[in-house]
Amino acid sequence: MHDTHVAPTWDPQQYLRHATHRTRPFLDLLARIPELPALRRPRIADLGCGPGNVTALIADRWPDAHITGFDSSADMLARARSYEGPTPGGGLLDFAPADATTWTPDEPFDLIVSNAALQWVPGHADSFGPWIDSLTPGGTLAFQVPGNFTSPSHALLGDLCDTPRWRARLGDQGRRFVHILEPEEYLKRLIDLGCAADAWETTYVQVLRGEDPVLDWVKGTALRPVLTALEDDPEAREEFLDQYRDLLRKAYPPGPHGTVFPFRRIFAVARKEI
Ligand SMILES: C[S@@+](CC[C@H](N)C(=O)[O-])C[C@H]1O[C@@H](n2cnc3c(N)ncnc32)[C@H](O)[C@@H]1O
Repeated sequence: MHDTHVAPTWDPQQYLRHATHRTRPFLDLLARIPELPALRRPRIADLGCGPGNVTALIADRWPDAHITGFDSSADMLARARSYEGPTPGGGLLDFAPADATTWTPDEPFDLIVSNAALQWVPGHADSFGPWIDSLTPGGTLAFQVPGNFTSPSHALLGDLCDTPRWRARLGDQGRRFVHILEPEEYLKRLIDLGCAADAWETTYVQVLRGEDPVLDWVKGTALRPVLTALEDDPEAREEFLDQYRDLLRKAYPPGPHGTVFPFRRIFAVARKEI
C-alpha cells in the first residue's frame, strides 16, 4: 500500500546512538557481495546513505572505488559530508541529494547498495529493473531492510497511534505503511530480472543498555514520522512518548544484563549476468 506521508525529518545524532548494532547487518551484507567487475576502478552508489558512516565502510572493501552516497535528508547529508573526499586507498567518497523513489542512475554503476533505507521507499521493488539495467555486466545490487514490522515495538506504536486520542491528533501521520517484501518475493523478482540472486533473513538478538533503550532506538527510526508530526507541539510529544514508553517497558523488560530487543532483518544480493 502506498501512502501520502509528509517525509519525516531525520536526526543523525539520535540515529548514531546505536551505531554498533545498526552497522553489524551492513557488514554482514558487505561480506556476501561478490567481487565487482575488474575492468575499471569500481563505481558504487549507496542509496539512503544516512550519516555516511556505513558508506565509508565500503571503502575498506574497495579502497580505490568512487563511492557516492545518496539521501533525501539534508540533515543526514550534512552529517555525511564529514566523510567526503579522497580515501586512503586512492578512491573518492562524495554525497549527493536524491530521492530513491524516483532515482534512476545517470551513469553505469558496478555496485548499488542500500542499507536500512528501502523500507521508506514505496514501490522500491519496481525500481529493481532500471537499477539493474544501469549496472555494468557482473555488477551487483545489494540491500538490507528491517523485517520487524510485526514485532511488539512496531505493533504497540501502531496500536497507540490508532487510539481515538492519537488518531484525532495524528491522522495518518502516525501510521507506518510497510513497504518491504518477504525474502522469497525479493528473490523471485531478482531472479526474474535475470540475476544470480541470494536472499536471506537474520534476527539479531540485540542487548541494549541504559534506561528505556528500545524507546531510544525507535526515536532514531520508526518514531520519526510521529516525532515529525508533533515537532511543533512539545506537550503532545511528551504525552505520546510517556504512553509509548510505558508500553515498551512491559514488552521489553530490562534484565540483569540489559534489555533484549530482537530485530529481524532481510537481505538480498543480486548479481547481473556478465
Ligand atoms: C535508517 S536510515 C539508514 C542510513 C544508512 N544507510 C545506515 O545504514 O546507517 C534511513 C535513511 O534513508 C533515507 N531515506 C528515506 N527515504 C528516502 C528516499 N525516498 N530517498 C533517499 N533516501 C531516503 C533517510 O533520509 C535516512 O538517511
